Amino acid sequence: MNADSRTRLDQTPEWTALAGHREELGEAQLRELFARNPGRGTGYTLQVGDLHVDYSKHLVTDETLRLLRALAAATDVFGLRDAMFRGEKINTTEGRAVLHTALRAPRDAVVEVDGENVVPAVHAVLDKMAGFAERVRSGEWTGHTGRRIKNVVNIGIGGSDLGPAMAYEVLRSFTDRDLTVRFVSNVDGADLHEAVRDLDPAETLFVIASKTFTTIETITNATSARNWLLTELKAGQEAVAKHFVALSTNAEKVSDFGIDTANMFEFWDWVGGRYSFDSAIGLSLMIAIGPDRFREMLDGFHLVDEHFRTAPAESNVPLLLGLLGVWYGNFHDAQSHVVLPYSHYLSKFTAYLQQLDMESNGKSVDRDGRPVEWETGPVVWGTPGTNGQHAYYQLIHQGTKLIPADFIGFAEPVADLLPGLVAQHDLLMANFFAQTQALAFGKTPDEVRAEGVPEELVPHKTFKGNHPTTTILARELTPSVLGQLIALYEHKVFVQGAIWNIDSFDQWGVELGKVLAKRVEPALTEGADVPGLDESTTALVAKYRELRGR
Ligand code: F6P
Repeated sequence: MNADSRTRLDQTPEWTALAGHREELGEAQLRELFARNPGRGTGYTLQVGDLHVDYSKHLVTDETLRLLRALAAATDVFGLRDAMFRGEKINTTEGRAVLHTALRAPRDAVVEVDGENVVPAVHAVLDKMAGFAERVRSGEWTGHTGRRIKNVVNIGIGGSDLGPAMAYEVLRSFTDRDLTVRFVSNVDGADLHEAVRDLDPAETLFVIASKTFTTIETITNATSARNWLLTELKAGQEAVAKHFVALSTNAEKVSDFGIDTANMFEFWDWVGGRYSFDSAIGLSLMIAIGPDRFREMLDGFHLVDEHFRTAPAESNVPLLLGLLGVWYGNFHDAQSHVVLPYSHYLSKFTAYLQQLDMESNGKSVDRDGRPVEWETGPVVWGTPGTNGQHAYYQLIHQGTKLIPADFIGFAEPVADLLPGLVAQHDLLMANFFAQTQALAFGKTPDEVRAEGVPEELVPHKTFKGNHPTTTILARELTPSVLGQLIALYEHKVFVQGAIWNIDSFDQWGVELGKVLAKRVEPALTEGADVPGLDESTTALVAKYRELRGR
């Protein structure tokens, strides 16, 4: 569908029908929905790959789901999906194709951008990464002084950090435990300081990850890392070749920095930063887990890509999750979405999703630049669930806000867990199941009274329940399952952007701060006048200079 021929979303009959349905449904009670349909708990489930997805604890009926799917059809979600997979330039504000799906396409697939099949280049880079990763892992690749590489420091930010840093944590049990792998992103010198202070530079490889190779934080940290290495090794520029590699789309800037482009792993402008971690940006992870595990992860991504591309609307899991988000964000005024993994290894997963979701769908104009009249992307937040239970779950259970939640858990603990710790897994998962039950069904005043609670405490101990959750359960957290999970969320975000008619693939909103930071810096260092600086900021800059004794 041509974007500008689209009827305004909130004026479509499908939207109006959903609004009417929402009113009719009122405060739908999960207790009642389950009582009315005894098979709901097993019926409202879907399977994609290894992921069992239970959506029975949502404030929806068959009719809600039918109306949501009608909205997806009216907004041509599958049409845009097909255009994305075909390599059309659906990132209209940047004039780019959106082809992260090609990064995990099998060798014999054909995906064309401007008439050229990009799959052979994708696999050529993967093969080059695999060769390099193996050489580092085997000790064949040595540093400038001939010592084996024992430390890998990834320097990047945003999409060039969050993905590999998250996945390294997730897949720790699959990593070579003799390698130290660290991730530096913050321009605060403390980040690099803590990452290198106990490392031997002769054994350290820096992986500079930046799509543009112009991001000030990354280039500043990379320059400081190079200075540290050359100073510590008492070596000249020639040492850089053995200790620095680059992951980028910008060969010219890589070369300007002093990295031999033979040591550059390429990707392309049709890979968005936040969708890039399965490209060359995954090199640090590949060194840590090995090329075979990395390919297993790509296969996991691809499995969900194929599901999203081919499954009918009724059983399409990313479509379902996207639609549920629309249901709460647009028809229940939910402002946020919490993701609660019951796996310590997924501790950085929500931070990763924050960029994926909020940088993609944090938009307030539609594809044609018109202000949107409906809510778009939610605030995404969360930490591993058990810790959250002793912190912010109180607000989810008894606060005044509706916060839909995703619970992610695994039947098996990771394979190399100390035998003495395996038994703890059942306790972890008991919490997982108990929480979704408590959130959905709560505790009525009568149930509280039946426990002999004094009347004045009854309101305090009553849980109204009705808090919607999705449960995602898999047997084990493997590289493939991680790929499946990420692709699931990528496509969920896609579905929502398609419905809201926004460009989910640009990020102009982060530009203004970057430009202003460059202008403000001389005011801090030299006390220079910055034209156009507002009065509050001018005063704060003056205070900063005073505190620094300038
Ligand atoms: O924050 C904006 C952004 O462009 C992200 O989209 C991107 O992931 C990040 O900066 C890093 O960019 P680069 O990989 O070009 O250094």
